[in-house]
Amino acid sequence: MLQEYEEDKKTNKDHVATPRWVVEDIYSLIHIEEYKSIWFPFNNYDSQFKLKADELNLKYKATHIFDDKHEDFFITEPPINCDLMISNPPFSQQNKIIARSFELIDTNKIKAFCLLLPLSTLETETRADLYEQYIDKLGIIIFKKRIKFINCKASFNKACCWICYNIPYVQKISWI
Ligand SMILES: C[S@@+](CC[C@H](N)C(=O)[O-])C[C@H]1O[C@@H](n2cnc3c(N)ncnc32)[C@H](O)[C@@H]1O
Repeated sequence: MLQEYEEDKKTNKDHVATPRWVVEDIYSLIHIEEYKSIWFPFNNYDSQFKLKADELNLKYKATHIFDDKHEDFFITEPPINCDLMISNPPFSQQNKIIARSFELIDTNKIKAFCLLLPLSTLETETRADLYEQYIDKLGIIIFKKRIKFINCKASFNKACCWICYNIPYVQKISWI
């Protein structure tokens, strides 16, 4: 599976790896050490979300489409009593991912989430209609600088934001 993952990394435009500073900033902002059952649904092997979580001794489950069980986000169950789902999902599937994330909230399978998404996630009628339904506990953190993702050309640098749901330390709107 590791080989499959390495091959995919070379060709899949969706595989943009998150730099460490982005992970450290959000972990500190949301006080990640207060969460007891964390899920990283798009993370495996070399993910900084995982590596930093190991350093902090966090209790988490990391899954990925190329792990040994081929754990597809759309059908994988979160860990028991999951109080936080956090990741950088494949941007090209964002509409389906956002919809599934709210479905997991509605069914009490996760209590809260933080998704790193392109700033353009705030556009489109489909996404806006969905965000509006959950506005009560929604928090948006906008990056002041574009993110240079690991192993991506400078031309890929993206304006991004965190879409957070039910995270107490996050304001309705803020900049990082
Ligand atoms: C944007 S990358 C982020 C990787 C890692 N989370 C990070 O931040 O460094 C998204 C990853 O999700 C994987 N992926 C794509 N579709 C998936 C699915 N349905 N379920 C789980 N993982 C998936 C891709 O192969 C890719 O490695």
